[in-house]
Amino acid sequence: MSEPVRPLEPPRDAYRAPVGTHDVLPPESTRWGRLVDLFAARAARFGYGLVITPVYEHLEVFQRVGEGTDIVRKEMYEFSDKGGRRLALRPEGTAPVVRAYLQHRPVPPWKVFYVAPHFRHEKAQRGRYRQHHQVGAEVLGVDDPEVDVEVIALAAGFLGAEGLGLERFALALNSLGDEECRPAYLDALRAYLRAHADDLCADSRARIETNPLRVLDCKVPTCVAVTERAPQLTEHLCQPCEAHFETVQRSLKALGIDYEIAPRLVRGLDYYTRTTFEFASDALESAQNALGGGGRYDRLAEEMGGPPAPGIGFGIGIERVLIACDAEGALPTPAPVLDAFVVDATGSGGPDVTALLHELRESGLSADRAYGGRSLKAQFRQADRAGARYLVLVGKEEMGRGAVAVKDMAAGEQVEVPRARLVTYLHEKVDQSS
Ligand code: HAM
Repeated sequence: MSEPVRPLEPPRDAYRAPVGTHDVLPPESTRWGRLVDLFAARAARFGYGLVITPVYEHLEVFQRVGEGTDIVRKEMYEFSDKGGRRLALRPEGTAPVVRAYLQHRPVPPWKVFYVAPHFRHEKAQRGRYRQHHQVGAEVLGVDDPEVDVEVIALAAGFLGAEGLGLERFALALNSLGDEECRPAYLDALRAYLRAHADDLCADSRARIETNPLRVLDCKVPTCVAVTERAPQLTEHLCQPCEAHFETVQRSLKALGIDYEIAPRLVRGLDYYTRTTFEFASDALESAQNALGGGGRYDRLAEEMGGPPAPGIGFGIGIERVLIACDAEGALPTPAPVLDAFVVDATGSGGPDVTALLHELRESGLSADRAYGGRSLKAQFRQADRAGARYLVLVGKEEMGRGAVAVKDMAAGEQVEVPRARLVTYLHEKVDQSS
């Protein structure tokens, strides 16, 4: 007789979520849901509609984000499909939205928000993942500086008092100018950096000619010391950029939104023009302290081969925000609540219990039960874990009288209720106590 065929041993770790990704399980997922609901409700109040774009796009869509950008050059999940098309998982949310705008040509201003997974092949650590999630918003088709303020206000209120209730974060604001004023500034910056090249790290030295703005972003202490005294873009803005920046600041002040000008805030993406901003939390480690950020990208649509279409938006990292919430005690994970838990005290409830539970749920109550003939004690334990406010006890004697017993878990009182009145009775009770 031949040996029975044994299933192959799975490779080690094959059944664990891949490095840099994670599962979100209840009750933590309830908190995610609340965060997303808060954001969606706020975005709707500001006149934004939900946009859902594919998780992957043609590679070119992201290449337009900037070849000098790490997330495109080094961190993108690229692949070929079976038809040989070159595709990439979304590393950031703006390029797909601009692609969708160019494809569908909605009437501007096009105001949209998203909640989506993003993929970057980064060195995974707390606050930095290979799959992370962002809530974000974009406005296409208007370059009015008041839109910049609307977008910043949408994000700031979501993080702060009108949303999650975070307090330990600050808004940094900068202007990166445009194609009129930036070239002359870059010349001045390059000249300064060349003169201090010996004090820069190797990466920054390599960027002096190719991408000097990113040197301003370098966190290496010697580079920080050099760039602290570097020429500042805000002092080289052309008149229209200067006027735009001033209007943004005036309106932010009118709204009571605190900010600090951060002349070295360049952000990690190449598409930005004019207004850029970032929300940093001091409840997070400094290497990953950005809760979210964004800015204008008035040339991106053209770079993607479309007609001119100015744009502005932001992305906020959900995982980062939840770490900050933990540190500040904001958005606590809600305790489970259930209106009613049906306890089968007959030992053989069968269709009666199933039908009763179904009726409660269909009437709008949240209700649950145990399965598999559990003991009474086990059913009570499950009801407790589920946060049940009322127990509906289905017992043989009560059933014989056409009734069930209802126990108010908070008051500890138990009453008998006619089966036919149960739904009305529970609704009255639940309405009174909520
Ligand atoms: P970003 O700054 O690259 O901007 O990402 C936005 C936010 O996503 C970050 O501030 C951070 O909270 C979170 N985030 C980014 N990478 C990771 C990661 N590996 N792990 C965890 N969280 C992360 C953008 O993506 C732009 N598309 C924002 C934008 C929209 N600009 C204009 N419109």
